[in-house]
Amino acid sequence: MKIFLDTANIEEIKQAARIGVISGVTTNPSLLAKETGIGFEEAVREICAMVDGPVSAEVTSLDAEGMVREAMEIATWARNVAIKIPITASGLEATRKLSVEGVRTNLTLCFSPNQALLAALAGATFVSPFVGRLDDVGHDGMQVVADTVEIFRNYGIQTEVIAASIRHPLHVTAAAKARAHIATVPFKVLMQMIQHPLTDAGIKKFMEDWGKFVGMSA
Ligand code: G3P
Repeated sequence: MKIFLDTANIEEIKQAARIGVISGVTTNPSLLAKETGIGFEEAVREICAMVDGPVSAEVTSLDAEGMVREAMEIATWARNVAIKIPITASGLEATRKLSVEGVRTNLTLCFSPNQALLAALAGATFVSPFVGRLDDVGHDGMQVVADTVEIFRNYGIQTEVIAASIRHPLHVTAAAKARAHIATVPFKVLMQMIQHPLTDAGIKKFMEDWGKFVGMSA
């Protein structure tokens, strides 16, 4: 399973890219709203230059024609951009048109396997079931990921499943066990995945013992 970073924060992306384990970035209007002093186009261009893999940037039109118009414009900003589109009738119509044009899409705000299936049938490159938001309302978000992956495998569907709205490291493990192609994680969760108190304690002990060893052999 690949890991994408779910943020529009340039500093976080820089740090994660340096570590070398992320394969893409996903943004949305809410994540962009947390960043100040940078415009949409500038942010998308900058992020796309920082990572080799796909960078999702969301359209804000609600009608298919407007979505396609925005998407065609955004697609000129960078070769690795993927257009994020909500799963609505208009979103599916726009996705079909963009797929014919060879524009990559990430169908977002997915809350059911049926929505995911329709996204795939419309020609989506990626579909993003929102795990945490389903958990928040008492549904098993990861089951939507697992069911979607199973359905896609049953029919050899090429659309990749991005486990999104990831809230903690256990979500990432569960997404990998459910065979999601990708989990898109906030920077905080990436750091939580790296850290383990026994790793820190082990390094401390090794350093202490190394000091003793060097002292003895001096
Ligand atoms: O990329 C969109 C998705 O991951 C949003 O997550 O935490 O706002 O539900 P969240």
